[in-house]
Order: sequence, then structure tokens, then C-alpha cells
Amino acid sequence: MRTQIVAGNWKMNCDLDDTKSLIEGLKKTTKNNATEVIIAPSFTNLSLANCLLEDSNIALSAQNMNANDSGAFTGEVSANMLKSVGVTYVILGHSERRAIFHEDAQILKEKTNQALEQNLSPIFCVGEELNVRQNNGHFNLVEEQIAESLFHLSTEEFSKLVIAYEPVWAIGTGETATPEQAQEMHAHIRKVIAKQYDDATANSISILYGGSVKPANAKEIFANPDVDGGLIGGASLKADDFTAIINSF
Ligand code: G3P
Repeated sequence: MRTQIVAGNWKMNCDLDDTKSLIEGLKKTTKNNATEVIIAPSFTNLSLANCLLEDSNIALSAQNMNANDSGAFTGEVSANMLKSVGVTYVILGHSERRAIFHEDAQILKEKTNQALEQNLSPIFCVGEELNVRQNNGHFNLVEEQIAESLFHLSTEEFSKLVIAYEPVWAIGTGETATPEQAQEMHAHIRKVIAKQYDDATANSISILYGGSVKPANAKEIFANPDVDGGLIGGASLKADDFTAIINSF
């Protein structure tokens, strides 16, 4: 049985006051349910979030991390620093990290290795630009993104991953993928994993959809057999909307 997950990627939003009020709101509205709820505040908010989440079942994720243990990497944050503030997940390979900060397959491979070594659960993001989909290259691209950064992992290591399919053209645009588009890519991802490893591994991995998920469309997207939840951006910054999405299963 796969884990249903709804994760909120806060991106570069919220100061400490916003963090306090958003988490207080979430603690009031998210009931104990079968869905694993994760929030990913910015680095500066993680310590406060960890304290505020002590009496809740909401898990904490980072939005990025460095692949090294420690050292002369000005401005960077290590897995150990994240673990010291209660982080258990880390988003890796987000399209904004790939495009804006030029994170390539090799860097993401190293970050994934370090996260697994430090017992953090990677939420590994894949997804295509619109022009790639328009040229029908999206299945090959997503397969390449997974193979290049993840297929060196053992079956046991791979089973610790969460995969997030986020078509870049749907992120922050309001242009959500249709439930059919989400389902066909998720099924493709599962098929690619089964070919490299085995059916049991492919069927155990939670594959999340991300890209303009809102309370109005979450139910239809999550109803698909290979969609195990969502990685939510904008809608995760409003407690009521994020809770409505969590309750969409
Ligand atoms: O990581 C999730 C994010 O990229 C999706 O953003 O605002 O389209 O839900 P949004």
C-alpha cells in the first residue's frame, strides 16, 4: 500500500510571523488522517516550524540541501544542519533549482546520495517544459531525469524516494495538467521504475503531482490510480486551501 502524501512547498515565502500563523492555522484544520502531510518552509523558518509542529503529525521538509557534509560552501546548508531542526524530507531537483540555479543530473545525483546517507527522504522532482511536451518528448525527458540521477541506487535505496511529477508549464500558471495527462505520466514513471528494478518497487513508490493544484481540482487529480498525492506551491500558503487539498482523497 503506497503512502498518500500532500506536501506544501512554500518556496521563498513567509517570515517568522507568517510561519507561526500559517502553522497554527494548519494545526487547527488538519485532522489526524491517512495522508502524510509535509510542509517545506524556507531554511530560516525551519527551527521555529520544528518547535510549532512538535504536537502535530505534520512532517518537515527542506526545499534544498548541499551534497557535502560541511565546509567552505558559503550560503549553503547541510543535511546534518537540517536534521538538527527536525527535517525528515528534502525536495530535490525542483524545476526552479534546475533552471535558475543550474542544478544538473550529476549535482542532483550527489544530493540524493547525501540525503539517503543522512536518512533524509528525498522528494525528487521531474517534469518537462511546454515545448518538450509540444514535441512529444516529455516521456523520454522524464525517464532521462530519473535514470540519470537515480538509477544508480540500489532497490532498497530507491524505495526510500518520493517522486514528484511537476510539468514546468503548470507550475504557478493556473494551467493544471488534466487528470489524464497526470495519470499517463505517473503510469509511465511507474513503468520505467519497474523495468529498472521490479514491479514491487515501482508499486511501492509514492508519485506526487505538482503544478497548480487547488482545492477545486485536487480531488479529480488524486482520484487517479497512479497519483498518490500532490506537491503544492501557492495553495500551501493558505491554511484553508492546503487543508482542503489534504482532504481531497
Ligand atoms: O513544488 C510545487 C510547486 O512547484 C507547484 O507550484 O504554485 O503551481 O502549486 P504551484
